[in-house]
Amino acid sequence: MLFYEFLKLFHILAAFMFISFGVASLLTQSSKLVKAMFGACSLLALIGGVGLIGVLKQGMPGWMTAKLIIWAVIMALVGVVNKRFPSYRTHAIGGLFFLVGLAIFYAVYKP
Ligand code: HEM
Repeated sequence: MLFYEFLKLFHILAAFMFISFGVASLLTQSSKLVKAMFGACSLLALIGGVGLIGVLKQGMPGWMTAKLIIWAVIMALVGVVNKRFPSYRTHAIGGLFFLVGLAIFYAVYKP
């Protein structure tokens, strides 16, 4: 049980940092360090999530798949807007928070 709780702490902290650096990368256009941290924390959040999937031994129910898709959409949104549509950065921040709300909804309600 201890490992499950440690993994959840790790996952939530990494997800928090992933989102924070995502927003920071949309606000501070040119910082390479912020973009690198966004990438690194996205991987840590994924590793924590996959670890939890393993520990929970429930296979891959719909809510987990939904969270994986949301994670990928957030990665694409931040990457594409920063590269191709810089004038939509503020909109992208709104979209990112909506997606995070959806990920937390799936994590808590597991529909
Ligand atoms: C935007 C990214 C994500 C956010 C904000 C997020 C947030 C959270 C939160 C807040 C919890 C704790 C829920 C609770 O205690 O009831 C959680 C648990 C979990 N997350 Fe994520 N997550 C994200 C991405 C992912 C990804 C990509 C995966 C899978 C690869 C994943 C798999 C899980 C699993 C398996 C749990 C454990 C649920 C349980 O203990 O019952 N998450 N997540």
